[in-house]
Amino acid sequence: MEFDKSKWADTDFSRDYLDKAEIYIVERRRMFSIVKSFYQHFVSLDRPVNLLELGSGDGTLTYELLKAGSTARAVLVDGSMDMLNKAEARLMEFDVRFVHCSFEELIREERLPGGFDMVVSSLAIHHLTTDEKSALFNKIYHTLATGGWFVNIDVVIAPSDSIENWYMEIWKDWMRAKQATLGVNDPVENIIERYKSLEENKPDTLDCQIGMLKNAGFKEIDCYYKYGIFTIFGGRK
Ligand SMILES: C[S@@+](CC[C@H](N)C(=O)[O-])C[C@H]1O[C@@H](n2cnc3c(N)ncnc32)[C@H](O)[C@@H]1O
Repeated sequence: MEFDKSKWADTDFSRDYLDKAEIYIVERRRMFSIVKSFYQHFVSLDRPVNLLELGSGDGTLTYELLKAGSTARAVLVDGSMDMLNKAEARLMEFDVRFVHCSFEELIREERLPGGFDMVVSSLAIHHLTTDEKSALFNKIYHTLATGGWFVNIDVVIAPSDSIENWYMEIWKDWMRAKQATLGVNDPVENIIERYKSLEENKPDTLDCQIGMLKNAGFKEIDCYYKYGIFTIFGGRK
């Protein structure tokens, strides 16, 4: 499905996500802080860093990294102009370039320079089919400088239905607890149902995606964090 036919091209849909992300996304802040720790430990040492974020949304993750690291330049890619406008407002103080482009176009065309020290993405690549994910991981590999890292926060599908059902239960528990602290009371079943029924969501198993990273040539591949369907995984060129 091309980006302009997806729900993310709808401004109300993307605004609802931004409003509720802290509820919908299990441990969102913790996952960002783990990627920040990764960035500080492996990437942002004593020289300027070239950072690329794919599916940046409103730029929250890049903002956390740029605040934390040595001087860095960042390129943010998203299919939604509305999201990129919000990211631009958030990142005004930094050296940042915005690329309005779908992942499908990124795969087909040469839209980005090479030489990135780190490529990050958060909850965006699961919108691609299995073949497209594999093609994008290959593209990311070629976009990285030697020694550069790819770190991806994303949802995955469990290896069996019984494990998937348990993951949905712990996701519901997390959302109920989060809503209680924020004084919100939306039926969490609707959120799960929407996640499951939206054709934009095409999660693959973690195992399958680790295999794709191996095939692309990545090393030091691992799952760096996991809570039910929410994972952080990646590797080094
Ligand atoms: C769930 S939001 C995540 C936003 C942000 N990374 C975050 O964690 O808050 C998914 C983002 O991916 C973008 N996106 C979804 N499918 C895409 C595609 N095929 N090409 C480019 N961007 C896409 C959407 O516009 C949206 O900004």
